[in-house]
Amino acid sequence: MERNWWQEAVIYQIYPRSFRDSNGDGIGDLPGIIEKLDYLRELGVDVIWLNPIYSSPNDDGGYDISDYQAINPAFGSMADWEALLEGLHQRGMKLVMDLVVNHTSDEHPWFVASRSSRTNPQRDFYIWRPAPNNWRSLFAGPAWAHDDATGEYYLHLFSRKMPELNWANPDVRRAIYDMMHWWLRKGIDGFRMDVINLLVKPEGLPDAPDPTDRNVFFNQPGIHELLQEMNREVLSKYDIFTVGEIPAVTPATARPYVSADRHELNMLFQFEHFETIDRDGWDLPTFKRLQRKWYEGLAGAWNSQFIGNHDGPRAVSRLGDDGEHRVSAAKLLGTMNLTLPGTPYIYQGDEIGMTNVSYPSIDDYRDIQMVSRYREAVANGAEPEALLRSLQPTSRDNARTPFQWSAGPNAGFSSATPWLPVNPRFTAINLAADLASPDSVCRYYQRLTRLRRSTPALIYGDYRPYLEADPHLYVYERSLPGERVLVLLNLSGENHRVALPQGVGDQRRELLLANVAPPADGELELSPWEARIYRLCE
Ligand code: GLC
Ligand code: CA
Repeated sequence: MERNWWQEAVIYQIYPRSFRDSNGDGIGDLPGIIEKLDYLRELGVDVIWLNPIYSSPNDDGGYDISDYQAINPAFGSMADWEALLEGLHQRGMKLVMDLVVNHTSDEHPWFVASRSSRTNPQRDFYIWRPAPNNWRSLFAGPAWAHDDATGEYYLHLFSRKMPELNWANPDVRRAIYDMMHWWLRKGIDGFRMDVINLLVKPEGLPDAPDPTDRNVFFNQPGIHELLQEMNREVLSKYDIFTVGEIPAVTPATARPYVSADRHELNMLFQFEHFETIDRDGWDLPTFKRLQRKWYEGLAGAWNSQFIGNHDGPRAVSRLGDDGEHRVSAAKLLGTMNLTLPGTPYIYQGDEIGMTNVSYPSIDDYRDIQMVSRYREAVANGAEPEALLRSLQPTSRDNARTPFQWSAGPNAGFSSATPWLPVNPRFTAINLAADLASPDSVCRYYQRLTRLRRSTPALIYGDYRPYLEADPHLYVYERSLPGERVLVLLNLSGENHRVALPQGVGDQRRELLLANVAPPADGELELSPWEARIYRLCE
C-alpha cells in the first residue's frame, strides 16, 4: 500500500458541546475550540475530527441535523467556523467534519415537506410504509413511527426524531452530493462518515427473522456500488481523506469498504473489540485476539485505533484503573493506542485521564440512547434504582462531561452552569494540574505523539504479538526492515515479569519511553500498569 498523510496522523476528536464554552451559556462552542488550538498543536495533534456542529434540535447530540449547511447557533456562526478552519491550517493541522447522511432530523425542511402529504414531491426522500415491519430501533423500541398527518409510518433506526433518508431516490443522492461538494469547496480536509454502512436498506423491507440482529440492516447489497458512486461523483475530486464509522462487520466484510483499489473509503472505524468488552467484560487475551484478527484480516487495508469516543465510557474506567493507578493506567492506554497498528484517535479528555461519572438520578442524564433504554425497561417493570446503576457504566454521557481545564469554577469549562454536570473529580483531574507536572498524563501524551511521529515502525511496521495467552501482559513488536520497536504493557494492578522469547529477549534494548521510571538495571519486571517502549538493536 502506498503511504499517505492520514496514516501518519494523530487525530483528536472534539465533542464541541463539551470542549470549551467561550461565551458563558454553558455550551461549548467554536470560539472555545479556537482558544485551545495551541494546546492541541503542543499535544502533537495533526487532525481534528469535529462531532456535528450543524443546525440541530439536539435530540441526539447533533446527530439529528435540520440544516446541513448552517452552524448550530449554540456553537457560533459560519464566520467562527471559517476562523477555526483557518486557525487549524495556519498551524499545519487539518479538519475532518462529521457527515451524517443516513438520517436527518424530523425538523429538516425535507422531512417537513415529506410528511406534509403523501403526494408531496419530497415524500420519497424518506421511507414511508402503510404498515411497519418488525424492526427495532438501535436505541430502543420499534423502528417505525406513526405519523398522524398522513396515516403512514416512517422508518427511524435511531430516535423517532431521526427519520432515515431514502438513498434509493436519486434526488436524495444528488442533494447530499451537492452538500458534500459545498463543504469540500470550503476547504475541509475530510469526512468522518456516520454509520455509513447503513445507507442501503434491504429490498422490500422484509420482517427480520431476528429483529435484534443488526445484520438485518447493516451492509446490505448495493452499499458498495453506492459508495463507489459517491467516490466518483464527489470524493475523488478532492485531496481529502475519509473514515467510515462501520459497525457490525468482520474483517472480510469490512475490507471492501476500505481497499484502496475499490475507490470507496480510506479508513475503517469499527467496534468489535469494544462491543465484546461491553457484552462479556474486559479480558486481555480476547482483546489481543481481536487486534490480531483485524490486523491480519484487513490485509493492508487501513484501520483506526481508539480507546474511547463520544459513544461509550471513558477509556481509563472501561479498560484501565480509574482509582489508585489512574495516572499510570491512562498513560498505558495512550501507549497502546498510539503504538498498535492503524491511525490513532485521541478522544478529548483521555489525554488527562478523565473518568466515568455516576450522576445520582436519571434526570441528570442527557444521552438519548441511555434515557430511551431506561424508559423502555421501566415500562417493562424493571426496578429503577438497579436499572440506573446497570446503565451508568456504559452511558455515553460518561464521555460527554465537560472537559476539565482547571480546578476553577465549572472546571474552567464555562463561567455558567454547564449543559451536563461536570465530573466531580475535576479538582484533582484537570489540564492545568497536568501541565504543571512533568509526570502527568498529558505531558506523557506529548512525548508519545512525538515518538510516534519520529518512528516509522510504529506507523507502518508489521505487528507481531508475543505471549498471547498472558492475561496481564500485552507485549508486541512493530517492525520495518532496519527498525524494531518492542512495546511492553502490564494491564494489571500487580507486578509481572516479562519472559521474552528468543530473538527478542537476546537483543540489546534502548528505552524510548516509559510511563514510570524503570529500574536502572533494565530488569523486565513491570510494576502495576507500567508501559515501556524499547528500540531493539542488533
Ligand atoms: C453514530 C454516532 C452516534 C449517533 C448515531 C446516530 O453511531 O457516533 O453518536 O447516535 O450514529 O447518528
Ligand atoms: Ca457557548
